[in-house]
Amino acid sequence: MTETQHNLRTNETIETLLNRRSIRKFKPEAIDEQTVATLETVAQHAASSQYLQDWSAVRVEDQALKDAIAEICCQTYVAEAPLLYIFIADEHRNAAVAERKGVKVHSDEFTLNSSYRFTQAQNDAVLALHAMETAAFSLDLGCVILGSVLNDPRKLIELLHLPEFTYPVLGLAIGKPDQSPALKPRMERDDQFFADRYPADDTELLHGLDAFDDSVHKYYDLRNTSRPVDAFSDQIANNAVDTGVFSRSVKPVAEDQGFRFDR
Ligand SMILES: Cc1cc2nc3c(=O)[nH]c(=O)nc-3n(C[C@H](O)[C@H](O)[C@H](O)COP(=O)(O)O)c2cc1C
Repeated sequence: MTETQHNLRTNETIETLLNRRSIRKFKPEAIDEQTVATLETVAQHAASSQYLQDWSAVRVEDQALKDAIAEICCQTYVAEAPLLYIFIADEHRNAAVAERKGVKVHSDEFTLNSSYRFTQAQNDAVLALHAMETAAFSLDLGCVILGSVLNDPRKLIELLHLPEFTYPVLGLAIGKPDQSPALKPRMERDDQFFADRYPADDTELLHGLDAFDDSVHKYYDLRNTSRPVDAFSDQIANNAVDTGVFSRSVKPVAEDQGFRFDR
């Protein structure tokens, strides 16, 4: 526990959440069936907007497929994850459900392909993934979430044979941890939680920034232990300038997949 966490209420769930950290090195040991069933069932029990349950996940079992996804991610540990999931915003299944009830899914009456439904499905997928991640940590497994699967969404869609009205959201790599990274610091609670209104001036908003920059700069990422990570401000400044990856918008690919964004 960090200094600022001393006054918190605690129990096993809270300890699991407070000790959560990304794990990027896994023991080469398979995860047993019962654990897999548990993690997947927990994910299914996450909340679902309007009960649409409009997400799915592909469990990537084939090593060649894992390798191809690791290549998209530019992260070798993805190929070494004993369990690897790609979570998907999925209106395809509900389109098939609605079609059986007579809805014409290729006409204007079909609305599960609109931009709002897309974000709704994405939210559900993220909540399910987070439930799975928490459950995995509680079972002493390690995980890392993978936004990098979207480095090349078209390739990923092709690899996983994702049909119309689906879109990949995030990956989750899971395994027995083979590293023990330090907890990565978080900003002061007051800099992220506000009472009633957003702070009026940015000086107030950033009052804890220098101290936070300092604490982040003392953290060593196990991906590169030769130097401490950049201060938070430097990381944000670097991310605030487009280096190419994020200039590829989700929208055109999502439109190829049958989602409508301009209504
Ligand atoms: C949406 C999302 C995408 C992420 N994508 C990646 C990724 O592609 N590769 C990776 O190594 N870590 C990824 N991470 C993990 C973050 O880097 C990590 O959560 C963050 O640095 C904080 O560190 P911690 O998880 O150890 O507290 C991602 C996290 C989130 C929430």
